[in-house]
Amino acid sequence: MSVLLKNGTIVTTTGRYTADVYAENDRIKAIGTDLDYAADEIVDAKGKYILPGAIDPHTHISMPFMGTYAQDDYETGTIAAACGGVTCVVDFDLQQKGESLLDALDRKKELADGKVAVDYSLHPAVMDPRPDVIDEVKKACREYGTPSFKIFMVYDFRVDDATMIKLLEETKRYGGLVQVHAENVYIIQHMNEVLAREGKLAPYYHAMSRPNIAEEEAIYRASKMVELTDSRIYIVHLSSKEGLQIVKQARDRGINIFAETCPQYLLLDDERYKEPDFNGAKYVMSPPLRTPASNVALWEGLRGGDVQVVATDHCPFDFNGKKDMFGKDDYKKIPNGAPGIETLLMLLHSEGVAKGRISLEKMVDVLSTGTANMFGLADKGEIAVGKDADMVVFDADLKFTITQSRLHMNVDYTPYEGMEITGMPEIVYSRGKRVAQWNGEQMEFVGQAGHGRFIKREPVDEN
Ligand code: URP
Ligand code: ZN
Ligand code: ZN
Repeated sequence: MSVLLKNGTIVTTTGRYTADVYAENDRIKAIGTDLDYAADEIVDAKGKYILPGAIDPHTHISMPFMGTYAQDDYETGTIAAACGGVTCVVDFDLQQKGESLLDALDRKKELADGKVAVDYSLHPAVMDPRPDVIDEVKKACREYGTPSFKIFMVYDFRVDDATMIKLLEETKRYGGLVQVHAENVYIIQHMNEVLAREGKLAPYYHAMSRPNIAEEEAIYRASKMVELTDSRIYIVHLSSKEGLQIVKQARDRGINIFAETCPQYLLLDDERYKEPDFNGAKYVMSPPLRTPASNVALWEGLRGGDVQVVATDHCPFDFNGKKDMFGKDDYKKIPNGAPGIETLLMLLHSEGVAKGRISLEKMVDVLSTGTANMFGLADKGEIAVGKDADMVVFDADLKFTITQSRLHMNVDYTPYEGMEITGMPEIVYSRGKRVAQWNGEQMEFVGQAGHGRFIKREPVDEN
């Protein structure tokens, strides 16, 4: 299979230029002007951007959570990814009690292989931190191809500070990266009690129960552990202005702390929890949506480089029958999470680039190149000779109105219903194979479940 994209505008993290791109057998083989290959597929990309496929390093596919399951499986989730221009997904693999990290990886691969429509990798989430599991970090970094490890400072399956310190030391030794969901669990427990005593149990109080200070404190504590161990850490789904301030201060002192935010924290605010008819439940996620001051600060964090990655935290639960049933009388029982894998690129372009909040080059960095570098995806993230031909032919003028029925995620709502989008993928390639295309009204999946592969990643900073 070969493809030749003619006269497109190739976008990198540092600029853009017009050229042809030729891809054959999974890889980009040549970039230049007037390339003359007899390709199976020749596309006139004049006036279109050629972007590296987006990488989503924060998804919860088929994850058991809060008495139910995140609804997308590897097939539906990666078909939706392809339709959104996401050509690689790094999913969380939550270790169960008694499992080794390898057991957990094998269990998830069994669900994914033969189903995935685009490439994927896994981050083991350490939830049973036995000494043999901490020892396994070395193998995960060097043999399994999974050098990033998720830990939670909240939820029942959180780890304690001592475990965090051990993991930071061990990952430092083998070039791995700890990723942390940073919220102070005791602040949240206290707020839950206060709100329950006052009978405040509607969705809006979910946000009040997890104030910005809970994120701020946890990030500060995590940053001190990194300072102590001279290691590295990555804050997932950074949501608040205060949390960002801690990240910035630590980075200014030379501490290796990195941060990811998500479209929901850039674009939505806590007024959403007040929507009538229990609609606020659609936005119940952790950390919660904040005020507009945090939206503004996070865009600034992206521009200034203190936030390096935008991911989705894709964790969909139907509104009807899940969000509205489990938590009708108590926000604490509403399954936490929202869909987003398919809307990542369109939102970041339309709300970020088209509205002048970030440059096109910055978008490529935070969705592709920087993400690939952060997570050791050596063959991904760039339109360059030798890289995987994960490419998006992108029409910056194409208009689309987001509506649930025109999306592919296995869920009955989108938080962005009715939003007018400027700029959509026209064709999406995964390793040179066309997997999705614009059909005049919406994106259409034209690939195959099972085309995707597990990608072994490389340790980033081995010493
Ligand atoms: O609310 C969320 N974010 N659900 C998914 C689990 C997590 O904390 O990332
Ligand atoms: Zn989380
Ligand atoms: Zn998450």
